[in-house]
Amino acid sequence: MAEPVQTPQAFAPRIFSGIQPSGGLTLGNYLGALKRFVQKQDEGIETVYCLVDMHAITVWQDPARLRQQTREAAAGFIAAGIDPARSILFNQSQVSAHVELAWIFNTVARMGWMSRMTQFKDKAGKNSENVSLGLFAYPALMAADILAYKATHVPVGEDQKQHIELTRDIAAKFNNDYGVNFFPITEPVIEGAATRVMSLRDGTKKMSKSDPSDQSRINLTDDADTISKKIRKAKTDPEPLPETVDGLADRPDARNLVNIYAALADMTPAQVIAEYAGAQFGTFKPALADLAVAKMSPITTEMTRLMQDEAEIDRILAKGAERADAIARPIVDEVYDIIGMIRSRYR
Ligand code: TYM
Repeated sequence: MAEPVQTPQAFAPRIFSGIQPSGGLTLGNYLGALKRFVQKQDEGIETVYCLVDMHAITVWQDPARLRQQTREAAAGFIAAGIDPARSILFNQSQVSAHVELAWIFNTVARMGWMSRMTQFKDKAGKNSENVSLGLFAYPALMAADILAYKATHVPVGEDQKQHIELTRDIAAKFNNDYGVNFFPITEPVIEGAATRVMSLRDGTKKMSKSDPSDQSRINLTDDADTISKKIRKAKTDPEPLPETVDGLADRPDARNLVNIYAALADMTPAQVIAEYAGAQFGTFKPALADLAVAKMSPITTEMTRLMQDEAEIDRILAKGAERADAIARPIVDEVYDIIGMIRSRYR
């Protein structure tokens, strides 16, 4: 078997990323992912964004709520600046190439690789005998999402890094096993001040839609008053802000608020510190609350407006799915061919 040489240049740049429509979107999703999705779109790169409903059902979802949250996430994307004419925006279950390729990747990925996924271990906890098989196989579906488009770059928050590494391993093993240079070795794009937004109640824990405390997060659906209150009540320490970013090293709550400010204002944490060195939280928190309201409220308002017309959201997702399918279908058909499946209806 020939050793394939990976030449990423051989693959046209294409961005893919996804968000689970389980529970509303948080400030973590917005700063760690969505805001950066918009930036990538505006840089003129081909961008494919997916609401991963098939991933969402790896834990129980109420059907009516899932449908609603998928529409709400789509509205959130558009309100945040995703233009469905420029980016491809769709929900995963409408493009069957994802699950087809995922099955093939279930045969490529090794049990050992999957068993090392920290997100599975975190989510399963002590309950690993009782979680769905889908939750274990989750990262293979994620690899399929990305590679069904031969995506070269995937903007994500830090928590997804290990899954992208697995995607790279799956691509490399597939290429190697079949002696092809078919899949790119995708690069994670983890950049900016907010790659890991932490809980407002505990700066050592990730801000998450599944945290039982609503005070721990800002939701994309929160109104101005709620955003402001949550930030003013955010956990902090009694010290003023330090003179340099190094002074934040052992202050997770303070660092989190500085990072959030930086990401919202398109600044670096060092620039924020330069502006607020020595300030008390009594000064910094209201400034952050005002900034968060100024940046988030227009998105919430627009999202609410878009949600008035669900049929229009469904049309946008259908159109996106059609465009996504046009890219993914031929790629997955070629995969069937490579692995030796008879596909007479495509010949
Ligand atoms: P999900 O739905 O948990 O999160 C979506 C995106 O938001 C980022 N994110 C955060 N970033 C910074 N701080 C936080 N507190 C925070 N919380 C979430 C995540 O890193 C992610 O970028 N497995 C993925 C969904 C997925 C996917 C894909 C992503 C499925 N297929 C293919 C990329 C490519 C997930 O559960 O993300």
